[in-house]
Amino acid sequence: MDNLKAELLRGLWYVACPGAEIKAGAMTGRKLMGELVLIGRDRHGKVFALRDICPHRGIPLRHGWFDGEHVQCCYHGWKFDTDGACVDIPSTHEYQTIDYSKITCGAYPAVEQQGLIWIYFAEKGEKPEDGRQPAPPLLPDFAADQGPSVAIMQPFVCSVDHAALGLMDPTHAAFVHTSWWFKKNGAKLRPKEKVFEPSELGWAMVRHKIPPQNIAYRYLLGDNVTTEISYRLPGLRIEHIKGDRHCVVGLTTITPVTEDETEVRQLFWSTIGWLKPFNPLVRYLMNVFLDQDRRVVIQQREGLEYNPKLMLINDADTQGRWWMQLKREWATSQAEGRAFDNPVKARTLRWMS
Ligand code: FES
Ligand SMILES: [Fe+2]
Repeated sequence: MDNLKAELLRGLWYVACPGAEIKAGAMTGRKLMGELVLIGRDRHGKVFALRDICPHRGIPLRHGWFDGEHVQCCYHGWKFDTDGACVDIPSTHEYQTIDYSKITCGAYPAVEQQGLIWIYFAEKGEKPEDGRQPAPPLLPDFAADQGPSVAIMQPFVCSVDHAALGLMDPTHAAFVHTSWWFKKNGAKLRPKEKVFEPSELGWAMVRHKIPPQNIAYRYLLGDNVTTEISYRLPGLRIEHIKGDRHCVVGLTTITPVTEDETEVRQLFWSTIGWLKPFNPLVRYLMNVFLDQDRRVVIQQREGLEYNPKLMLINDADTQGRWWMQLKREWATSQAEGRAFDNPVKARTLRWMS
């Protein structure tokens, strides 16, 4: 594992941004997976993603214009449809014949699902349906068109590997996520024991009961509250908490901007209608927590620049090990053209936190 840069896995769907960030007829340029990507929404509401580099002379297309149907380059006005095909070159004289159909800026498969825009980064130009992840994962208990009630993003100055290791690390909370209303610094650590099992493209902390003394959960969700936390490639943490009356899903996504920069998003879905007025408070608290992670990563980078040898210890970092094993298996199995064989085996992990 390189300290600063991560290997970026391909042949997978990545979260680009919440759909609400792109209105009909709008486009925006992003850097994702080290590539320039133009994300837009046509006038009928359908999202699309193009390679954000004009095939004529290389200027990013985001500097140009979008009329809800065609993207026009700002340099010489070449026009592209939302599949990336060139449809007009204004400099073409009537004496010339140019076969536009041979010219494309390149497009990425993009879908909008549960309020998120997902983009597929192909391994070798394959369509997702011909690859190993035909569609992005669907979150449990929520309809395909139900978006999150709260969504936040913070840029992390680290590779996806360190963002992921932080995300699945159960023992930093007592030191990093301290505040007067949550955990006090120096709070007593308690023994934890959780059962894990392999799940699709990752693993899950097996669904277990939340103790009834957690009054807040009971009040919000009803009796018999249970939770399951799963982690999966290419960098998703899905927490699904449900009770007799309601359920909530918390999703964390880590999307590589480049090999050493990452966008971390946290999103929250709930079936509790009356919670809406509290969304600003939920957003605030989510930002406080995520900012604590973001700041520790900035401090960590100072040391990582010196390329120290790092340790992953049992059982606190076992999930971190699984993450690295999963990534390796994904890349090797892809290169060898064989099926992905989940390296995680069911087991119980114990730690103090
Ligand atoms: S660079 Fe885009 S049209 Fe010329
Ligand atoms: Fe954290």
